[in-house]
Amino acid sequence: MSERTLAIIKPDAVKKQAIGDIISQYEQAGLRPVAMRMLVMGKGIAEGFYAVHRARPFFDSLCTFMSSGPVVVLVLKGENAIKKNRELMGATDPAKADKGTIRAKHGTNIEYNAVHGSDSPETARVEIAYFFPEMSVVG
Ligand code: CMP
Repeated sequence: MSERTLAIIKPDAVKKQAIGDIISQYEQAGLRPVAMRMLVMGKGIAEGFYAVHRARPFFDSLCTFMSSGPVVVLVLKGENAIKKNRELMGATDPAKADKGTIRAKHGTNIEYNAVHGSDSPETARVEIAYFFPEMSVVG
């Protein structure tokens, strides 16, 4: 089933000049970028995006990090895009991510982990609408 997922290339990966390599990995896995923005998130934008994590001890640090520099936000489309992207990213902690995954290659630690990807169809819908409200009407 073709579906959409939201991906973010985080400030650490943008600083490391890994944008091209990461987008290339998406494309090679059959995940097509169908929308893309580069922006610096204000802290409030990061807090809204990660609102589900607001009770976590790392919430403030995560939002400071995510608003610390430019990010690239993409909508990726493809067969089983959500699961495929999560496999491609690897585990949240780069130290535990499988070899060859984006986080194993570009992540630094559990917080500076290079990329974000939606974890379910419901989350994908909400996250896509957050950054690309004009796309929410087409699912
Ligand atoms: P992400 O997939 O964007 O979703 C939530 C983010 O919180 C996660 O990637 C990490 O960047 C961060 N995160 C998750 N767990 C921890 C942790 N234990 N300590 C610090 N940051 C974390």
